[in-house]
Amino acid sequence: MSQISRVLPIDLVKFKQKNKRFSVLTAYDAAMAALVEQGGIEVILVGDSCGNVVAGHSTTLPMTMDQMIYHTQCVARGTSRALIVGDMPFMSYHESHAQAKANAGRFLKEADAQAVKIEVLPNQVDTLKSLVDVGIPVMGHIGFTPQSVFHLGGYKLQGKTAAQADAMLALALEVEAAGAFSLVLEMVPAVLAKRITEQLRIPTIGIGAGPDCDGQVLVLHDLIGLSRRSPKFSKQYAQVGTDIVSAISAFNADVEAGRFPGPEHGF
Ligand code: KIV
Repeated sequence: MSQISRVLPIDLVKFKQKNKRFSVLTAYDAAMAALVEQGGIEVILVGDSCGNVVAGHSTTLPMTMDQMIYHTQCVARGTSRALIVGDMPFMSYHESHAQAKANAGRFLKEADAQAVKIEVLPNQVDTLKSLVDVGIPVMGHIGFTPQSVFHLGGYKLQGKTAAQADAMLALALEVEAAGAFSLVLEMVPAVLAKRITEQLRIPTIGIGAGPDCDGQVLVLHDLIGLSRRSPKFSKQYAQVGTDIVSAISAFNADVEAGRFPGPEHGF
């Protein structure tokens, strides 16, 4: 019988128990996913941010199940060890538990993901539970939930008032009780993220949520300098976009000047 070689959802809970901080990155294709894994990342989220940074949409809303399955398959093929989390796109889990289970199941059956992520509004905790109940590991996502960008009035910090903060903590506890193995906190005040992190047994994964979460997640294109706009909470560790433009300009100049191809490139 073959062994499972990948990091598993339960390992993230163990990281928290051992006070081991961890990082999560997005990837959408095999080549970049392989580099992410080589860089030591143990959890790869095939985020619906793909809609922004790959497809060029202004929101994540247009992403479809078939597109997310395709990108998750590419990421799985480029990796061998990382935990692959498939992000369920807008309206793929909102209609019924049956719809949510069928679509979540596709990530595991067709795309080699080991878990899915859903954005959890207060009335959607039972959807998360319905997935866990059939054995599908779920990463929850609360705070700023990009699929509700229009309802939330834009890209805004969430949980600013005392009442909103209490409601978010209550939701986080419900998500944990429903069986999630981890919880993304997006655009949440650092003090609130710290409070939630201290109260949960499952790890929190922050994005724009301060330094006290158990893990941190970023969109790969923001981190390497490939995004058209990078959010305030992200940090650019490289300027890959600038390198790509330089390489393309050099190629173009070589062709125009007759320097490429050289004799060594021919047959
Ligand atoms: O889609 C995505 O990449 C995400 C992360 C930003 C958490 O949801």
